[in-house]
Amino acid sequence: MKILVTGGAGFIGSHTVLTLLEAGHEVVVIDNLVNSVVDSLERIEELTEKKIMFKEMDLLDYEGLLSVFAEGRFDSVVHFAGLKAVGESATEPLRYYRNNVAGTLNLLDCMQETAVHRLVFSSSATVYGASEAVPLTEDSPLEAMNPYGRTKQQIEEILSDLSASDPRWGIAVLRYFNPVGAHESGRIGEDPKGIPNNLLPYVAQVAAGRRDKVTIFGDDYMTEDGTGIRDYIHVMDLAAGHIAALDFLVPRTGIFRWNLGTGRGSSVIEVISAFAEASGRPIPYEVGPRRPGDAAVSYADPTAAFTDLGWRAHRNLSQMCTDHWGWQEANPEGYAKTADHAPPASCL
Ligand code: WQD
Repeated sequence: MKILVTGGAGFIGSHTVLTLLEAGHEVVVIDNLVNSVVDSLERIEELTEKKIMFKEMDLLDYEGLLSVFAEGRFDSVVHFAGLKAVGESATEPLRYYRNNVAGTLNLLDCMQETAVHRLVFSSSATVYGASEAVPLTEDSPLEAMNPYGRTKQQIEEILSDLSASDPRWGIAVLRYFNPVGAHESGRIGEDPKGIPNNLLPYVAQVAAGRRDKVTIFGDDYMTEDGTGIRDYIHVMDLAAGHIAALDFLVPRTGIFRWNLGTGRGSSVIEVISAFAEASGRPIPYEVGPRRPGDAAVSYADPTAAFTDLGWRAHRNLSQMCTDHWGWQEANPEGYAKTADHAPPASCL
């Protein structure tokens, strides 16, 4: 199929683009590079020896977006593009609603205008809020607790209404738990700008000597070691989930929702220990105050994705840490930040 991937230069997007190419799909990527660099696409072209059509574009540029669809004749869209920092969303809510929700409305309008009715949407377990009722199923109540999570929840509601209004739409909503790790080559990976918000990239930067120590946000939770528990999932397992969802939608219409997680939880201390083991590096840490809004425990019930899609996560925490370290060690400063890198030759 010919697939348009929005946000395809980003962490999860790039790993999914690579997996789509290896599955024989033709891929076009649009990305405004606000939180990514085109180097990820150049490296995917090297790894796969396949070409990616790339166009630097913002979803808020309706005319530009429509011209991509007018030329594209896409079979499906995989929609990653979006701002995703929980803390930042609380200080810049209008930017988040405009970028994530209005940007998605532009995308859906262009799809409708050009009769592209198949969509895989990158949602997030953050729509479940700080629910302590674990494991979380697709029927768990949606109670997002921050503007970022609310943009995901509102987009899911828009997609539900769109599906109800027009039976031609086939929509897969994928709710990610905690994506970590990197492609086994170490050539692509998570490259957050500034101070990482999330645990794994922060731990990886401590292992690489870029940061002094990890601050554990509270060790007084009602968990075995007192630290927060999450469902970490390898980004390559997550990418495979997107392929399975795209294949599922080929003969079907309607809207479908799946949790993409392992169904297993790991504590902060378990993650730090696993990363120290995988990297062979000490990971100093100290305990600080809880981070507002954090749940004590969050992990998925991934049964539905296996039942419907035949998909499940295969890689364990040790593999996640080994691959995340493989990327970090080979790229201590992330992707080359040089601005003079020519975009991929096959630009739109
Ligand atoms: C994991 C655990 C922290 C950093 C977030 C978003 C979610 C999704 C994934 C986009 C928690 C603890 C963390 C640190 C720590 N993103 N921690 N020290 O909060 O589960 O989910 O990222 O879709 O929307 O909410 O992930 O990695 O920030 O935290 O102790 O420096 O690590 O308290 O228990 P989270 P996280």
